[in-house]
Amino acid sequence: MAAGLVGRVVRGGAWSNLVVREVDLPPDDARLVRHLVYGTIRNLPRLDRAIRGLSSRPLAAIHADVLDVLRVAFHEVLFGRAAAHAVPDTAVESARSLGHGRATGFVNALVRNLQRGGEPNPPTDPAEVFSLPGWVMDDLTRTWGRDQALAFAEAAHEDAPVSFRIRPGDPLPHGAVPTPVPGAFVHPEGLVPEKAVVQDAASVAVVEALGVAPDHRVLEVGAAPGGKTLAIWDRSPASLASVDIHARRIRQAARRLDRAGGSGWWIRADGTRLPFRSGQFDRVLVDAPCTGLGTLRRRPEVRLRVSIGDRDRLAALQRRMVREALDAVRPGGRVVYSVCTLTGAETLGVVENMGGRPPADLPGSRLDHGLLMGPHLTGTDGMFISVLDR
Ligand SMILES: C[S@@+](CC[C@H](N)C(=O)[O-])C[C@H]1O[C@@H](n2cnc3c(N)ncnc32)[C@H](O)[C@@H]1O
Repeated sequence: MAAGLVGRVVRGGAWSNLVVREVDLPPDDARLVRHLVYGTIRNLPRLDRAIRGLSSRPLAAIHADVLDVLRVAFHEVLFGRAAAHAVPDTAVESARSLGHGRATGFVNALVRNLQRGGEPNPPTDPAEVFSLPGWVMDDLTRTWGRDQALAFAEAAHEDAPVSFRIRPGDPLPHGAVPTPVPGAFVHPEGLVPEKAVVQDAASVAVVEALGVAPDHRVLEVGAAPGGKTLAIWDRSPASLASVDIHARRIRQAARRLDRAGGSGWWIRADGTRLPFRSGQFDRVLVDAPCTGLGTLRRRPEVRLRVSIGDRDRLAALQRRMVREALDAVRPGGRVVYSVCTLTGAETLGVVENMGGRPPADLPGSRLDHGLLMGPHLTGTDGMFISVLDR
């Protein structure tokens, strides 16, 4: 089953956090499948490198299903928990059940070779060790320094804890442990109490930085799928307008907000050309599209999908969105810029020349122009938050 799910993510474009939710198995088995899928995708480039090192056939000549079976088995040998004798047998059985009975000898031989000889030429370069694109490690090293870049790569290779927020006025659930972000909690057993809203503490921090008061007219740009929209709505602003460029995502987000008892306006518009008068809002959140590297713990496939070209295209878009937001906010009002990534161009590069500053009273690495949170710093998703006062 794990190999099939890996294939759907790697070749079918699905998201791992969504496919693992579909697994309908007893809890222990579901946990194992989740571990296999996440671990395999997290290490995919490194696993492919090891398969290439041991296989007589080039990767492209191996049937995609068989390659996925090998990837899962190689993950189990190198990083997994399964008993050694079980791994080749399970891999052979998976290949057979996927209709590749003739490949079982090949699969068996490769897995046993790995078990006998270990990883061929184990990597030492951090980008290869953590299966990150070289340009990502270069960017993070240049922007935050080598130690921070390494600490991030290591922490982003772990599972993310489940954190949640409680809605204003709701009682603190039994067992909830506060995090350093006001309003965000974890549970020691990873449970999500009834009525709590699952949300990473870094996203809770973004809304905290916005400082919404009941008399505020608030605009959120890049609002779907509505996670932060709901958190803003829970702070009872005077009005809330939510803009996104994608109609389908807006429909889904509006339904989500509706189910949770929220309301407000949903507007399909381009955040670089907003359909509002200047100075119409007290608070504007630009939760911009980005390379998403801060979410690698939940979406390990991001490492396979983003390119340096995406980074540069998104950074240009983000700058235009922030400029437009500054026009939409009234003098004395506030724009908050947030991205769940850590590349230099999408973080400091966007706000450096616009007078961004870090929000007060939130955990993370405080810089001249913003706040950096991340798995290595705050145990949260990676998030850059900058406040721009008008
Ligand atoms: C990081 S996601 C937003 C997440 C959302 N705020 C939440 O907390 O659930 C970025 C969003 O920006 C939207 N987007 C991309 N380009 C845009 C543009 N030019 N104008 C407005 N929205 C855009 C995407 O459709 C996506 O929904």
